[in-house]
Formats: sequence, structure tokens, C-alpha cells
Amino acid sequence: EKGGWSSFMAKEVAEQPEAVAKTILGRVHDGQVVIPELDGLDELFIGINRIIITACGTASYAALVGKYAIEQWARVAVDVELAHEFRYRDPVIGADTLVVSISQSGETMDTLMAVKYARERGARTLSICNTQGATIPRESDAVVYTHAGPEVAVASTKAFSAQITALLLLGLHMGRVRGTVADASVDVAELQALPEKIAKVLASEQEHVEQLAGWMADTRSVLFLGRHVGFPIALEGALKLKEISYIHAEGFAAGELKHGPIALIEPGQPVFVLLPSPRHSALIHSKVVSNIQEIRARGARVIVVAEEGDVAVLPFADEVIRIPLAGAMFEPLLSVVPLQIFAMALATAKGLDVDQPRNLAKSVTVE
Ligand code: F6R
Repeated sequence: EKGGWSSFMAKEVAEQPEAVAKTILGRVHDGQVVIPELDGLDELFIGINRIIITACGTASYAALVGKYAIEQWARVAVDVELAHEFRYRDPVIGADTLVVSISQSGETMDTLMAVKYARERGARTLSICNTQGATIPRESDAVVYTHAGPEVAVASTKAFSAQITALLLLGLHMGRVRGTVADASVDVAELQALPEKIAKVLASEQEHVEQLAGWMADTRSVLFLGRHVGFPIALEGALKLKEISYIHAEGFAAGELKHGPIALIEPGQPVFVLLPSPRHSALIHSKVVSNIQEIRARGARVIVVAEEGDVAVLPFADEVIRIPLAGAMFEPLLSVVPLQIFAMALATAKGLDVDQPRNLAKSVTVE
């Protein structure tokens, strides 16, 4: 039940610290990530030269974050493919390919068909799923469950955070098995600090973001820009807004701006920008700051999600939403939270039912 919350979505957004903590629980031993479900399955990760992560919708954006983390830690090439595209071409896969599928429900027909197809082609299969005993995990060689608890709202929030968490765990687990991560202690500490940091974002930015959404109730289009792991978060921020507030929204890789989307910028156009910490890469940070300057110069209304203490952006931002300091791969779990709150608050300001958006079903069990 909803408890005291105004919607299931509000409840589920607030449950994210717990969803992440429960997904990590029992999977860290002596400063290393060891996923008990994968015990004895090292051969899934050794002798492969390629990983394809397949999923739909929000789960495919979690997959994109996973690509950055797994490539960095496990040093194996990762591609992300929408399940319905993967299945309907003639992909080059075989015994040297690990196909990872991600599904909250475990029943999404497009994703299920992709898993069956991968198996028929001789690939190894692993699923990340939030529903015990669902069809997709039953069809896979291995499963890593997310422990977000039941997600009722149609728009996925806590399951998304739990999916990213599971992918980070998988990346560190694989890195250990493949011998490409010598010392995981810093990353493990980052993982374990996440629930508290997510709670901090919820506590410190909820009101601010709700107020922002209140001012923007008449907005007809919102753009989202991100770079590196901020790119999939830009896509997710846009999807949440489309789904529940029916506002046109698009997410872009910030580097694409000058290749086309900057033509959309006109005075008053709201743009969310996910600014990565300068501590991860001064270069990436400075590139995104330049993007902010470029769109501001053309009149965009710029809302920046930035690390606490990053003042580089203050002269060019209309609004700054603050997130705590976190490692590069961990920042998406913090920066997505204000975007979820924004979508929810804007839908509420428009008088919409955030739990039951029109035309959508929680689980898409047809192709
Ligand atoms: C977005 C959303 C959908 C699902 C997608 C996959 O908020 O909920 O995009 O993420 O339909 O669903 P699962 O994860 O159940 O396979």
C-alpha cells in the first residue's frame, strides 16, 4: 500500500536508498564484490570477448551506465542493444559472447525473445531481474536479482537504481574473476556509501526541485544533456518526463549539441544539464561547462545538476541542483533522483495521475 505517500511513485522514489542497500547486501566480502548466485560460474566471464546488454526502456538506460562500468573494470567490450532491435537482425554472437538482459518484471516479451534467441545462437546468458522466479531468469544461465521490492508505479524509479547497482556489482565481480581489478576497496566503499548519499539528495533537493517544476507547469518541451555516464541519465530524465507529464522531452549526449540539437535552443527553452565532477575528469567537466555557456548564450534556461562545491557553473546557470561527491561510476545514482522528482512534480502540477500514465502498462508482455 501507499502508506502516507501521495502516489506509489513518490513512495518508490523515496525507497531508493533501501533498494540500493538491499541490492548490495550479502554481495560484499572482505572488501571485494562476490555475488553468491554466480558462485561456480566463473566460466561465464572468462573466455568471452564481448558482452551485449539487452533491455527495453528505462532498463536499457541502466544498461548504458553498465557499459561504462563493465568496460572499465572487466576490460571487455560491451554493447547495449534494445531487445527488439537485437532480435530482428542477424547479430554476430556465439559461445564467446555473454548476453546480459535486464528486466524489472522479468516478463517483457521483447527482452524474453532476445534471451531465447541468444541462447539458441549459443551465447551465454545472464539476467538482472527484480522479480523472483520470473520467465526471463528461468530462461537464462544465471541471474543476479535486484532487491528493490515490488514496483507498482508504471514509471520505473527504484528498480532503475537497483539495476544500475546490480550492474556495478557485476562489473566489480567480473573484474575480480578476470583479474582486471586488483583492488576494489575504493569502489566498494563508494557503493556502500550510496544509500546515505541518495537519502541526502532526497532530503536536500526535493523541495527545491518541486518548486522549480511548479514554475514550469506550462512548459511544452524540456531538453536534457549529459556526457559519459551522465548521457544515459539525460535519456532517463527525458523518458520520465514524457511518460508521466506528457511533455515533449529529449535527452542528448552533450557532445552532440553542435551536431544538430543546438538548433532547438531558443530563448526560454529549459535545459537540464548533468555536469560531471571535475575530480573525475577536468577535461570532460570543462567540455560540459562550455556546452552550458553555448546554450546559455542562446537564451536557454539552464538547470544544472552539479556536485556540491563545484562553482565553475554558477555564472552560467539559472538553477543549480546539488548532489554529494561520488566516484564517476556512482554519480548516476545521485543525479537521476532530482530528474525523477522533477517529472513527478510537473505531472502533479498538471493534475495528472503519476502512477497510471495514459497508454502505458507496467509490464509489456506482447511483442
Ligand atoms: C519506464 C518504464 C519502461 C520499462 C520497460 C522495461 O519508466 O517503466 O520503459 O523500463 O518497459 O520493463 P522491464 O524492466 O520490466 O523489462
